[in-house]
Amino acid sequence: MAKPPQEFKHKIFRTGLPRTPEQRLQVARRSVFLHLHPSRIAADRMKIGFTWCLGGLSFMLFLVTVVTGALLMIYYRPVLENAYADMLDLSYAVFLGRFTRNVHRWAGHGIVITVVVHMLRVFYTGSYKPPREFNWIVGVCLLLIVLAFAFTGYLLPWDQISYWGTRVGTHLLHSVPLLGADGPFGSALGLKPDGDLAVFVLGDADLGPRALVRFYSLHVFILPVFAVVFLMVHFWRVRKDGNLAAKL
Ligand code: HEM
Repeated sequence: MAKPPQEFKHKIFRTGLPRTPEQRLQVARRSVFLHLHPSRIAADRMKIGFTWCLGGLSFMLFLVTVVTGALLMIYYRPVLENAYADMLDLSYAVFLGRFTRNVHRWAGHGIVITVVVHMLRVFYTGSYKPPREFNWIVGVCLLLIVLAFAFTGYLLPWDQISYWGTRVGTHLLHSVPLLGADGPFGSALGLKPDGDLAVFVLGDADLGPRALVRFYSLHVFILPVFAVVFLMVHFWRVRKDGNLAAKL
């Protein structure tokens, strides 16, 4: 008899309370944290198929940014007086500094491209359909994380282009519905430009030292933690759901 389709919420919260020993075992087998490595994988799920390696390439570029970013952290200080000078030092005085900086920058640009093309591949092969719709949503979160990495990293050199680019980007937050002073319902809610979403993000009425530290801590700590958790769940679901493209 055909199984009834699972409700979407059961794909996210996969089990109810485990009451029998079998159900308790299932919790361990199905949980990413308790059992990251699935206990069983169908043979065809291990084949390299028509994925164009785009997910793998994205992950490889992610690793490159992690290693080069850690090296850049040795010199870079997220303080207004030092940030730009540290970037100049890295480019002209530090051994292999310019190379490390450029590899980090290009890998960062590259990952945005590979992730978007990976997403298109998943879309055009219909790989977002059940049972992979949960992994599609995990992927959308990963896309937002990658874009947030790019946006926060852009400010760090604290040169003219990064300052004005980020200023334009963060100014848009004043126009977000309900949360921005200039956005729809902003004035009805009594929001002021010096107390809305933009100020919450920047930590101040304008782009300054607080914004630099916030963007730095997002870029080197908060976003990486989110990225690692979402990547773990993403890879675990790829293995559990099976890679559709491998069968094409
Ligand atoms: C940092 C970002 C990402 C990394 C490192 C990553 C990595 C991977 C890898 C290694 C695979 C298996 C091989 C492949 O299909 O290429 C995969 C599959 C998949 N990814 Fe991603 N991915 C990312 C972002 C995304 C995004 C933005 C989406 C969609 C919104 C997405 C949705 C999926 C889905 C649904 C699958 C299963 C495809 C299938 O079974 O054919 N991923 N991902």
